[in-house]
Amino acid sequence: MSDRILTKHWGEPDSYTLAGYERIGGYKTAPEAFKRTPDDIVAEVTKGNLRGRGGAGFSTGMKWSFVRKEKATPKYLVINADEGEPGTFKDRYVLELDPHRFIEGCIIGAYALDCHAVYVYCRGEFEPGPITRLKAAITEARARGYLGPSVFGTGYAIEMHVHRGAGAYICGEETALLESLEGKKGFPRLKPPFPANAGLFGKPTAVNNVETLANIPTILQMGGDAYHALGCPKNGGTRLFCMSGHLVKPGVVEAPMGATFRELIYDRCGGIPGGKKLKAIIPGGSSSAVLSADQVDLKSDFDTLKGAKTMAGSGGVIVLDETVDMAWALYNVTKFYAHESCGQCTPCREGTGWAARLLKKLVDGRGEKGDVDLIYNIARQGEQRTICALFDGAAMPLKSYIEKFRADFDSKVKA
Ligand SMILES: Cc1cc2nc3c(=O)[nH]c(=O)nc-3n(C[C@H](O)[C@H](O)[C@H](O)COP(=O)(O)O)c2cc1C
Repeated sequence: MSDRILTKHWGEPDSYTLAGYERIGGYKTAPEAFKRTPDDIVAEVTKGNLRGRGGAGFSTGMKWSFVRKEKATPKYLVINADEGEPGTFKDRYVLELDPHRFIEGCIIGAYALDCHAVYVYCRGEFEPGPITRLKAAITEARARGYLGPSVFGTGYAIEMHVHRGAGAYICGEETALLESLEGKKGFPRLKPPFPANAGLFGKPTAVNNVETLANIPTILQMGGDAYHALGCPKNGGTRLFCMSGHLVKPGVVEAPMGATFRELIYDRCGGIPGGKKLKAIIPGGSSSAVLSADQVDLKSDFDTLKGAKTMAGSGGVIVLDETVDMAWALYNVTKFYAHESCGQCTPCREGTGWAARLLKKLVDGRGEKGDVDLIYNIARQGEQRTICALFDGAAMPLKSYIEKFRADFDSKVKA
């Protein structure tokens, strides 16, 4: 079996239309799913070891089973299409090039969750482009009776609503997203309760990434075991890796879960331009701890990278060659977190800006003795002391760049 599932039809001129999707067998899985029980579908997804593609890599089947256990109604399926993590650019292509696959996944997901309303929270910049295509695809599916009051003539109602965000990284954090969807300021909520227990409008809600849902039709077509076998232990299927930085052929690469970084960088993306040496790899979006060149043979799955004290995150792989000054790179990353901190928690509001200012001092050649340790301690002392993981996402690069590339920092401190 080819390891191209999600990207198989990208590039075909009508891949985004209903006719194009039906030509390749689209919308055949959802009607079959309605003949099964919702519990059976959740069990199949769990067997497939589908792990959320948004960042945390949580088991999708398990998340859905938590929602199902709740008695309260209505239940909601909320799709996270905010795609704000720097280095991540795959959900936009799923929506733009193959929106019906995603919609079919949402139909099956809604049925499995006993829910009738699906909200897709899209980053504002997705309009036009992904949002326009998604809205057109929803209209087509509804006109055909695949969405609406009686999906596939089953009597089961599902409506899909597209919501355009105003452009804030924090609104990708699932509880801030829910606040924003409810019309409030995008401030993360304290957890517990988790969205599965009390989410949108206080009701049980599954928040899932776009790519996660786009995998659902394939899992039901091939069965959970076969889907799992495409990947590696406890990490089923393939993944969309967003390959950027110093690469001969950057872009979105679909590869089995657990492909090594060597395979991704050298076999899939043609290596590093100009024959330059690899210096570092950001493995899962800018919030992940950086890897050094000697870790290039690590597998890219959620568990291996957790074991290596980093994370597979959003699948955003940024490759840095030997010319990169890691203090400069860290300054760039940290400036982003300082800008995007919502300001609700003091360690994040104050710490991200403080670290960014100190890094600016270093890259400008004004670094003083003690500055590098101070930056490190700002990260260490704020970790896991905030409502959401934004600060942890700033702290992981702060700590790891300094730990692994200390010389790049010390060389900027005035003697
Ligand atoms: C600051 C922050 C930003 C996030 N941004 C996104 C995002 O843009 N897209 C996304 O899918 N998940 C994002 N997440 C992760 C979500 O909170 C959530 O875990 C995810 O949408 C769950 O879907 P999944 O289980 O399918 O991965 C972010 C998390 C944090 C802490």
